[in-house]
Amino acid sequence: MKKGLFITFEGVDGSGKTSVLKGVNDLLLKNGISNFIITREPGGSKITEKIRSIILDRDNIEEDIKTEALLYAASRRQHLVDVIIKRLEEGVHVICDRYVDSSLAYQGYARGIGIEEVRKINEFAIGSLYPDLTIYLDLAPEEGLKRIMKNRENPDRLDVEKLSFHKKVYEGYEEVYKMFQGRIYKVDAKQDLLSVTKDAFNKVYEFIVQNEKR
Ligand code: TMP
Repeated sequence: MKKGLFITFEGVDGSGKTSVLKGVNDLLLKNGISNFIITREPGGSKITEKIRSIILDRDNIEEDIKTEALLYAASRRQHLVDVIIKRLEEGVHVICDRYVDSSLAYQGYARGIGIEEVRKINEFAIGSLYPDLTIYLDLAPEEGLKRIMKNRENPDRLDVEKLSFHKKVYEGYEEVYKMFQGRIYKVDAKQDLLSVTKDAFNKVYEFIVQNEKR
């Protein structure tokens, strides 16, 4: 039985998830919360890191969009089995950098497969294991792309997509937000890193403390 809380972080490329997550990790520890792990998608375990390298390889330009969606779902399934379910059952909170909402926004909306279609294949992979809370770093795609070009030495296959694709991803997230408003908490990611980190941390901390009291 699931005992830990399942929390995910989402946002367009360049929204700062990785840096914010590092900060949230440190703040949780400083504030006495240590029964959590941070993991990421696609990846997070031996098999899934291999799938990640296929998906993100810049040479795989001929990758079909449905193949891409299925690979993400396959990687998600393996990561659930290898890492997430085990830890949740042990009572450890799991914080995951990207999960099913990424597939809905990127493959479902931006690639044009359809959010409902992608939701179906993902529900084959995850059953009903949706996150308890999702922190969505809300950042305009123009700004995200600017940050990627400035900060990354080796942008991956999706980073180098055109601005029009990044705009679609953003619209996709807006759709996903409307579908799951109760679960998704928006943080204004235009702010400086410290403020974004504090906003995200405050929500995660409050959510863990409230749920642990029950
Ligand atoms: P990352 O840069 O956050 O590690 O994510 C890698 C890329 O994979 C990013 O461009 C988003 C993309 N992605 C999808 O398109 N669908 C998914 O389901 C996931 C998890 C990531």
